[in-house]
Amino acid sequence: MARIAVVGSINMDLVTRTPRRPRAGETVLGTAFATVPGGKGANQAIAARRAGAAVDIVGAVGTDVFGAELRKVLEDNEVGTAGLRTVEGSSGTATIVVDETGENTIIVVGGANAELSDLTDADRALIADADIMLCQLEIPVDTVLEAARCARDHGTLVLLNPSPARSLPPELWEAVDIAVVNEGEAAQLDAELRTVPHVLTTRGGAGAGYRGPEGELAHPGVRVEVVDTTGAGDTFTGALAAHWHEGPATALAWACTAGALATTVVGASASIPTAAAIERALAG
Ligand code: RIB
Repeated sequence: MARIAVVGSINMDLVTRTPRRPRAGETVLGTAFATVPGGKGANQAIAARRAGAAVDIVGAVGTDVFGAELRKVLEDNEVGTAGLRTVEGSSGTATIVVDETGENTIIVVGGANAELSDLTDADRALIADADIMLCQLEIPVDTVLEAARCARDHGTLVLLNPSPARSLPPELWEAVDIAVVNEGEAAQLDAELRTVPHVLTTRGGAGAGYRGPEGELAHPGVRVEVVDTTGAGDTFTGALAAHWHEGPATALAWACTAGALATTVVGASASIPTAAAIERALAG
C-alpha cells in the first residue's frame, strides 16, 4: 500500500447550481445550494485514501463553524490528521457556481490555508516516511517549496498539481518528479514542465495523457453522465498517487476512471469514488 503525505488546502465549498452563469450586473435565479467539504489538498487526500493508499494531510482549518466539520470529514475518511492545525479565524472557502452542463467557476478565499507556514518536525517526519508528497497551490508557495525540499532530502517523490496556476520559483520545478496539469495549464507552463520527469495532462471528457521516461501514453475518456466536474482533477490526482507504484499505465487507468466517476455526483469530496467502484468500472 502506498503511503502519501498531502501538504495542501482544505476548504468549505459553497456550491450554487444555476441554469446559466449571470453576466456582470445581472441576477439569475439558481436552482440549489449546498455546502460541501472540499479544497484541492483535502480532495486529493480523500481520493488517494479511497483509492487504497495510507494518507496523512498537513494543512490548516479555522476556528469558525466550518473548521470542525472539515476536520471531521478528513477523520471520517481515515486521513491522518496529526499534521492538521486549527488557526484563529476563518477556514478556507470556495464559492462555486455550477451550470447545467456541469462546468464550474470557482473563487477561493485562502483563510486558514494562507496561514500554513513553517513545517514542524512532525510534519517533516510525515513527508520523510511517505512514498509520495502531494501538493497544490492553494497554500503559500514558500510552504510548498519547503515541503518539496524536505521530500527531496528524504527520497520521497514530489507530485505537484500546479493549480490554481501561478508563478513558481525555478527551485520548486527542479524538485518536482511528477506533475498533473490540465490542458490550459500544460500550454501555460510548457517551458517549466520540460524539466519535470513525468507529466500527466488531463483532457476533461477526452481522458488524459502521460509523457515520461517510458514514452507517451494516452488513456481515452471514460463514458459517464456528467453532473458536476468539481473535484474531478483532484480525484484523478489522488488516485494516480495511490497507484503510481504500479507503473504509469496502471496509475493512469485508475486516475482517469476515478476522475470520470467523480463527475457523476454533485460536490467535490462527496463525489470521490471508492477503490471498489473504480475497480468495477475498470473491469467494464
Ligand atoms: O478542485 C476543486 C476544488 O477547488 C474545490 O473543492 C474548491 O475547494 C477548490 O479548492
